[in-house]
Amino acid sequence: MKHLLGIEHLSGEEIEKIVDHAVKLKGDRGRQSDQVLLGETWAMIFTKSSTRTRVSFEVGLNELGARPMFLNANDVQLGRGEPIKDTARVLGRMVHGIIIRTYDQQDVVDFAEFGKIPTINALTDEEHPCQILADLLTIKEKLGSWAGKRVAFFGDGDCNMGRSWAWAAKRLGFELVIAAPKEFQPHSSFMERLGDAPVTITDDPVMGAKEADVLYTDTWVSMGKEAEAEGRLKVLAPFQINSKIVSLANPGAIVQHCLPAYRGKEITEEVLESRSDEVFQQAENRLHAQKAVLHYLALNR
Ligand code: CP
Ligand code: NVA
Repeated sequence: MKHLLGIEHLSGEEIEKIVDHAVKLKGDRGRQSDQVLLGETWAMIFTKSSTRTRVSFEVGLNELGARPMFLNANDVQLGRGEPIKDTARVLGRMVHGIIIRTYDQQDVVDFAEFGKIPTINALTDEEHPCQILADLLTIKEKLGSWAGKRVAFFGDGDCNMGRSWAWAAKRLGFELVIAAPKEFQPHSSFMERLGDAPVTITDDPVMGAKEADVLYTDTWVSMGKEAEAEGRLKVLAPFQINSKIVSLANPGAIVQHCLPAYRGKEITEEVLESRSDEVFQQAENRLHAQKAVLHYLALNR
């Protein structure tokens, strides 16, 4: 049985297969409905807020014939301390798949182990694989391919997005530059686990932007880090994507943001609005990429 626990756990071939299928599903949308999940119910347990992930999964499950069952973690006994492994064993006997957004990566791993149903990581503190698959789809559409391209990630390089990008670079072989202040560079234990990968780290935003084909950013204050907001905003300020940074990148470079965006912080209003077609195409692609993930898991269980 296959799960989507992280980009770490996918091969390059699997990533390519999912993105290629997403291209097809996007083209076929509304013309053809391939209801591989007909009659199924998929549970969605979210302990953190979400707009894009929740809506794209609910719509995607519907389009594939399944009923999404959204469960706010605080409304189920999990929020009152029922162990994950018990919740997973109950759901595993009733629903056909599970999509989880939470803090601890181990919770997603435990759901997969004890639930024995396809399990999708819809964001943890460790990784955000669904977002990366949509981003790769957008890069393919906008730039033709990620092969030979340089992706520059600006901001908190030690967050879920930075880590998922690093695994994507390792699996697919494109170049990733993480431009972050020392305090927010990927942890040495993560870099050891990543091993040999085409990933470079710099604390110089100008170096980060040079020769980049994709300028990527994310909030400086990830969910769960709100108490650190003041310090983070100060240290990360030089790593904003603004018109100067855009002017240093390769001609034809695209700007990407996983959203939600905090204008005037990690990206300026001017850059976000002038590149809104790129950023909102990326947001739309969450739907198509996740439908491809659901297909992939449905066919491999
Ligand atoms: N990018 C992303 O995952 O958005 P949401 O938090 O709105 O789901
Ligand atoms: N790094 C961000 C991503 C939001 C989609 C967070 O975890 O809040």
